[in-house]
Order: sequence, then structure tokens, then C-alpha cells
Amino acid sequence: MTKQRLLFLGPPGAGKGTQAQQLASRRGLLHLSTGDLLRAEVAAGTALGAEAQAVMARGELVSDALVLAIVRSRLEHHSSGGWLLDGFPRNLTQAEALGSLLNELGQPIELVVLMELDDALLMQRLLGRGRDDDNADVIRHRLEVYRQQTAPLIAYYRERGLLEAVDAAGSVDDIAARIEALLA
Ligand code: AP5
Ligand code: MG
Repeated sequence: MTKQRLLFLGPPGAGKGTQAQQLASRRGLLHLSTGDLLRAEVAAGTALGAEAQAVMARGELVSDALVLAIVRSRLEHHSSGGWLLDGFPRNLTQAEALGSLLNELGQPIELVVLMELDDALLMQRLLGRGRDDDNADVIRHRLEVYRQQTAPLIAYYRERGLLEAVDAAGSVDDIAARIEALLA
């Protein structure tokens, strides 16, 4: 049985969104990107979006309560079929909360894919994209937040026997093939 409850972990610019979108559409998985969902709230001008906007522009993490509420409602309404979480969880509090939720739903994570890439390449990719939070100072801060708050999840999932690392340098297709090889 191929793995279909997946989590993509890695620094900003590693290509999580690019790979997640393609893999989810190839396999019919729900692609859940907390960054995309938050940007949609901002674009729609909701109260939630207003709360998130300034925090995202600084490259800091939006509150755990807000992000968890978004994820919970999406996963609860997706009772059958697989999913791919992209950019969530982002710290140990979120990882613990996700673990309890998935326990409750009887849908444990099957694989955590860690996408690894040098800072110089991350910076180059993000400056080339130019999203609102893609300027050099904010990117540096996002990388710092990643190292301090998100990177501890590497050990967390490795200890649980769920983590596989992938070299995220190279073409989009090459990286997709590396990820596919882990799912069988
Ligand atoms: P989020 O949207 O998750 O952004 P991020 O983690 O900073 O990561 P990116 O989306 O920038 O990178 P990616 O790895 O997805 O790469 P992508 O495929 O886009 O979060 C944004 C903000 O929202 C956070 O800072 C925070 O404020 C908030 N937030 C989100 N989730 C949260 C949470 N759980 N808790 C609290 N706050 C949260 O690729 C990047 C670029 O590289 C693209 O231009 C792409 O085309 C290009 N590219 C991709 N692959 C390749 C390749 N192989 N070769 C060349 N170019 C490539
Ligand atoms: Mg992304």
C-alpha cells in the first residue's frame, strides 16, 4: 500500500509547495498548505486574515491556536483518502496538537519528507519568486525562525521512525522522482 498521509518539512524555499501540489494532484491527495490558507484569508479580508497579515509580513509564525483551528476543520471534514500537510506543523506545540488530532481521527502520519537545501539556494529561489514576504531581510528572518522553532521537528519525527530526507537541489522532476521513491 503506498503511503498517503504525508507531511512535507523543510526551510522556506525548499520547494515544499511545488512538490506537494504536483504529488497531491497525481495521487488525489488533499493538499493542505497553512501558508496558502492564511494567504487566502488575507486576500478575502476576513478577521482571521487581518490577524495573520502583519505577522506573515514580518516572517514570524502566526499563533498556534489560529493555525490549529484551520487545520482541524479541514482534516475533520476529510474522513476518507490521503492528505499532504505542507508548512504545518511548524513547532513542537503544533506537532503535539496534530498528533492528538490524528489519534482522535484514527489517521496517523505515514511519512515525513524533509526537503534539504543550502541557504544560498533557498535565498536565490525566494528572491526569484517575489511573494510579499520574499525580500532579503524577511527571508533571513524566516530562515532563523525555521532553525529555532521548526528544525526541532526533524529529531521529533526521526525518533518516531517517520522521517526521510531528500536532497531538494536539482530539477523539479528529479526531486519529484526522489520523493516518489519513498512512497512505495
Ligand atoms: P509558507 O507559505 O509555508 O512559506 P514558507 O515556509 O516560508 O515556504 P515557502 O512557501 O516560501 O517555500 P516552499 O518550500 O513551499 O517552496 P516553493 O515550492 O514555494 O508560510 C508563510 C508564512 O505563513 C510564515 O512565514 C508564517 O507567517 C505563516 N505560516 C504558515 N504556516 C504556519 C504555521 N503552521 N504556523 C504558524 N504560521 C504559519 O518554492 C519556492 C520558489 O522556488 C518558487 O518560486 C518555486 O517556483 C521555486 N522552485 C521550487 N522548486 C524548484 C526547483 N527544483 N528548482 C528551481 N526553483 C524551484
Ligand atoms: Mg510553500
